[in-house]
Amino acid sequence: MIRITGKTRVLGIVGWPVGHSLSPAMHNAAIAALGIDYIYVPFPVEPECLGPAVEGLRRLGVWGFNVTIPHKSAIIPFLDRVSREAGLCGAVNTVRRDGDLLVGHNTDGAGFLASLREDLGFDPRGAAILVLGAGGAALGAVAALSGAGAARIIVANRTAERGASLVERFRPVFGGVGFSLSSLCPGELVGHLRTIDLLVNTTSVGMNGTRFEDLPLAELRSGGRVYDMVYAPAETPLLAAARERGLTCANGLGMLASQGEAAFSLWTGIEPPAGLMKITLRRELEG
Ligand code: ATR
Repeated sequence: MIRITGKTRVLGIVGWPVGHSLSPAMHNAAIAALGIDYIYVPFPVEPECLGPAVEGLRRLGVWGFNVTIPHKSAIIPFLDRVSREAGLCGAVNTVRRDGDLLVGHNTDGAGFLASLREDLGFDPRGAAILVLGAGGAALGAVAALSGAGAARIIVANRTAERGASLVERFRPVFGGVGFSLSSLCPGELVGHLRTIDLLVNTTSVGMNGTRFEDLPLAELRSGGRVYDMVYAPAETPLLAAARERGLTCANGLGMLASQGEAAFSLWTGIEPPAGLMKITLRRELEG
């Protein structure tokens, strides 16, 4: 049970729409379990109102907030500073107050790496990885994998130019990573799948009944792993195919929980109880 006092610190999430967000449930579960004087609320902010809304949050003394679609990049000009990680991928998912300054962070990358470790037992160091997609989620994933010492990253995107611009962004920053590009054509993917350690889906394919029609997953070597950032449905067609083949695989629930844990620690200085955010998310999704 959360008790509101005159000193309660307000946390929240800025997005549009934001009604579907699972973040209030998982953060408030951690706040309640720890018995600390915080509350986490949704802030629905239309795109054209982002600047005034951030100024309002600043002046109201809101303690910290998450940022979600469609504001993750658009918010940067309204902040005072961004962390190296956030600057690198041009996206902020967590804002923390630093004295009078609003500082943008990105915990998605750390959350992704934590989930790879916990849910797949996977360490990117020295690994070859095929990333499907080149949007915002892919930027965060490729930055995190590169920073964690991946040896080779292949970016396969439907729109070739977008894949190329992602690779051009990171090539000068991560000289030790061998970047290459691919289409989503089965003929081209076959060769990559035979040589990689991990396949990551960062696209929205798998939501709302969508699927990759011709992904030649059978070519993935037997020790290869599959990570799908989609978490609803819990088992996408890609994950179902991976499971049928006996491959180690995971959905994006662990990443959502881990980025939340990292944000919570940034704001409160306290680690949330281990596993609580993940359990809360699972309960919310099942309910
Ligand atoms: P996010 O921030 O969630 O990554 P985004 O920036 O809109 O969202 O990026 C969506 C990604 O999913 C892109 O890589 C997109 O491919 P395009 O660059 O070609 O648009 C990919 N994507 C979305 N729907 C897709 C589909 N049906 N098939 C293949 N890729 C798809």
